[in-house]
Amino acid sequence: MIDIDVVRSDFPVLQKKVYGKPLIYFDNGATTQKPLCVLDEVRKVYTDYNGNVHRGVHAMSDQTSEAYEGAREKVRSFINAAGREEVVFTSGTTGSINAIAYSFGERYINQGDEIIVSEMEHHANIVPWQILCQRKGSVLKVIPFNDRGDLNLEEYLKLLSPKTRIVAVTQVSNALGTIVPLKEIIEPAHAMGIPVLVDGAQGVQHGFADVQSLDCDFYVFSGHKIYGPTGIGVMYGKEKWLSGLPPYQGGGDMVDRVTFEKTTYNELPFKFEAGTMNYAGAIGLGRALDYVKELGRDEISDREKTLLAYATERLSSIQGLRIFGQSDRKICTISFLLDNIHQYDTGMILDKLGIAVRTGTHCAQPVMEHYGIEGTVRASLCFYNTIGEIDALGTGIEKVISMFS
Ligand code: ALA
Repeated sequence: MIDIDVVRSDFPVLQKKVYGKPLIYFDNGATTQKPLCVLDEVRKVYTDYNGNVHRGVHAMSDQTSEAYEGAREKVRSFINAAGREEVVFTSGTTGSINAIAYSFGERYINQGDEIIVSEMEHHANIVPWQILCQRKGSVLKVIPFNDRGDLNLEEYLKLLSPKTRIVAVTQVSNALGTIVPLKEIIEPAHAMGIPVLVDGAQGVQHGFADVQSLDCDFYVFSGHKIYGPTGIGVMYGKEKWLSGLPPYQGGGDMVDRVTFEKTTYNELPFKFEAGTMNYAGAIGLGRALDYVKELGRDEISDREKTLLAYATERLSSIQGLRIFGQSDRKICTISFLLDNIHQYDTGMILDKLGIAVRTGTHCAQPVMEHYGIEGTVRASLCFYNTIGEIDALGTGIEKVISMFS
C-alpha cells in the first residue's frame, strides 16, 4: 500500500501554494512532477562526475558513460526489452516517432503504400506520418473511434491490406483516457507481416510497458511523463527492425569510420544517437524508473484505479457536466465540459483556486472534431493525488457553475 503522506513528501513542488491556495496538480498527462531522488540524481551528475559520454579515457567521462549505460539497462529492464541494443535515447516521444517515421519511411515506404493510425492519436503520432506521406506519396488510413471513446476494431481489420506498411497507435488516449486493446491491434497486423508502433507516452507511467508481452515492434515514451526530467525519451525497436533502418541524424558517436569517400555506422543502439546525448536526463530517467519500481507498479495501478472510480463518481454527480471518454478501460484522466461554459473559463477559475488542469484540444484536434467541440477541460491524475483533492475539484467546478448561472 502506498503511504500517501510519505509519497507526497517525496515531491517538493506538491507542497507549493498557488494564489495562496495549496496546489492541486491535475495536469499529469502534460507532465508529471519529479521526486527529490530524481532531482538529486541529476544534480549529482553535474556536481560529482560530469564528463561527455563514450568520448574520453579520463575518469569523469568513464563514470558518466557507466551511469548513462546503466540508465539504458534500467530502461531495458523496465520495459522488458530483450536487449540493450534495442533501447535508443531520444529527446522524447515526439523525437522518437519522427525518427522512426523518417528512418522506416526511407527504407520501407514507397508511393501508394499505406500507413494506419487512429482517430484518437496525439498530433505527434499523426503529423510525422503525414510528412512521410507527402515525401513518399503514401496514404494515411485512420481507425475511427465510437462516442464512448473505444476504437472500432472491425473497421481496423478492414483497413489492413497488402499495401499497409506500418500501424502506429497510442497505448492510451491523452484526451480521453482510453486504454487501447493493443493485442487486438498487433496480432492481426503481425498475421500480415506488418509492424506496429505503440505510442506509450500516456501508458508507460500507468504500468503498461512490457514490450515482449505486447510484442510491439516499436515502443516510444517521454521521461518527463514518468517522473523523470524533460528532454529525454526512449525509442525502443526490435533489433530485427532497428538493425535494418538507416540513421536519421548524422554526427559524432553514431559512426564507425568516416572518410570523405564513405562512412560506416556504429552498432546499435549508438547508430541512432548522434552528437552529445542528454546523458544527465537519461541518468535522471533511470532514477525515476527505480522510484516507480520501489513504489510498486501494481500499487500505483491500484491507487490510480481507486482515484479514477472516485473522481468519475464525484464529477458525474455534477449536473451539466459531460465527460468525454467513457471506455470501460481507462486511466485516471477525465476530460469534461460544463454546459454553456467555455473550457478556458473553467480552467482559469479552477487555476485561481489552486487547481491545475489542462484546457484546449490537448494536441488531439481530430478527437475534438469527432465530438464537434473546440476542446475540453482535462483533469489527469496520478498516484500522488488524493481523494481530498478530487473533492476540491468537485467543489471548484460547482463554484464555476454557480458563477455562470
Ligand atoms: N502530450 C501532453 C498532453 O497530453 C502535452 O498534455
